[in-house]
Amino acid sequence: MKISRRSFVRTSAVAGAGLLMSQSTPQKLFGSIVKSSGLITVSTWENTLKSTWRTFELLQSGKNSLDAIEAGIMVAEDDPTNTTVGYGGFPDEDGIVTLDASIMDWNGNAGSVAAVENIRHVISLARSVMQTTKHVMLVGEGAKKFALANNFKEEDLLTEKSRAAWEEWKGKNIKNNNRVSPNNHDTIGLLAIDRDGNMSGGVSTSGMAWKIHGRVGDSPIIGAALFVDNEVGGAVATGNGEWVMRSCGCFLIVEKMREGYSPEEACKIAIERVNKLNKNGEDIQVGYVALRKDGVMGAHSLYPDFSYCLADKNGNKSYKSAFYRTK
Ligand code: GLY
Repeated sequence: MKISRRSFVRTSAVAGAGLLMSQSTPQKLFGSIVKSSGLITVSTWENTLKSTWRTFELLQSGKNSLDAIEAGIMVAEDDPTNTTVGYGGFPDEDGIVTLDASIMDWNGNAGSVAAVENIRHVISLARSVMQTTKHVMLVGEGAKKFALANNFKEEDLLTEKSRAAWEEWKGKNIKNNNRVSPNNHDTIGLLAIDRDGNMSGGVSTSGMAWKIHGRVGDSPIIGAALFVDNEVGGAVATGNGEWVMRSCGCFLIVEKMREGYSPEEACKIAIERVNKLNKNGEDIQVGYVALRKDGVMGAHSLYPDFSYCLADKNGNKSYKSAFYRTK
C-alpha cells in the first residue's frame, strides 16, 4: 500500500516532534530514523540474533516471510540457553513447561496455541492451526492432541538447568519473581518483510517463570502480543503479558501507525497506556517492536534495558530500545 501524502505529513510532524522531545529528555527516538528498503527482520531482545539472522538468510534465499519467521523462531525454541522459549524454558510453579505461541501472515490469517505441554516447536503448531483448521486458537490438552495427530514429537522440555532453577525457586519459597529484565528475558517476537513486500510475524514463549499452572500470557492472543496488517505494518510484544493483554498493545500500535504515527511513536503510545494502567507502580516491564510496511521500525519499553535485533542489508545487530521512564 502507498502511504497517503496526508499520512506522510503526519508522520513527519510526529517524527519532528519526537526529535524535539528527545533533545529535552534522556529517551531517544531511534525508530523514526531506522529505515530499511527491502528485506528486513526485527525481533525482541538482544539474545535473539541467531533467530533474526536465520530469518534474514531465508528471506535472502527467496523464502516468503511466513516460512522465514517460523524457521527463525524455531532457532530460539531449540536453544536450551534461552530459558523463556521452547526447550529449556522455565516451568510453571508445578515444574511443568507450558508454551504459548502465535503467528500471522500477510493475508490476515492467524493461528495460536496456549498452555501446550511437551511440544517444542509451538510456532509450527500455531502455523498448523492457522493453515489446516478453521480455528485460530487451540489450548492445553486439545492443542497437544492436535499436535500428536499432526506428527509433532512429544518430548520432555525440562533441561538440567531449568529443573535446577525451579527446584531452587521452590526451595526458597519466593512468591513473586516474574520481573522481566535483561537477565530474565521473555518471549521472542519476530516480524519480517520478504521479497514481495509481504509481512509476517510470530511470537513464542514459555511465559513467566513459576506462573500458576494454567496461566496463559499475551503471546497467543492475537492483537495483544502480535498483530500484522500487510497494508500498514506489524507489532510484537514482550514483558509481563497481563499488562499487554489489558491494553491490547499490538493492535493499538498497528492502528496508530495507520493513523500516521511513526512505529516508535505508536509503540510509545501503547507503553503510555500500560503506564497509566499501572497505577500502583508494580515492578513490571513491557516492550514493543513495530515494523511499518515501508521498512521503518521502532521500539519502546516501559523501563530501560529492553533491546531488540534488526537484520537487513546492513547486517545483524542488537540495539537498546527507547524507554518511557526510569523508576
Ligand atoms: N510475554 C509473555 C508472557 O507474559 O507470558
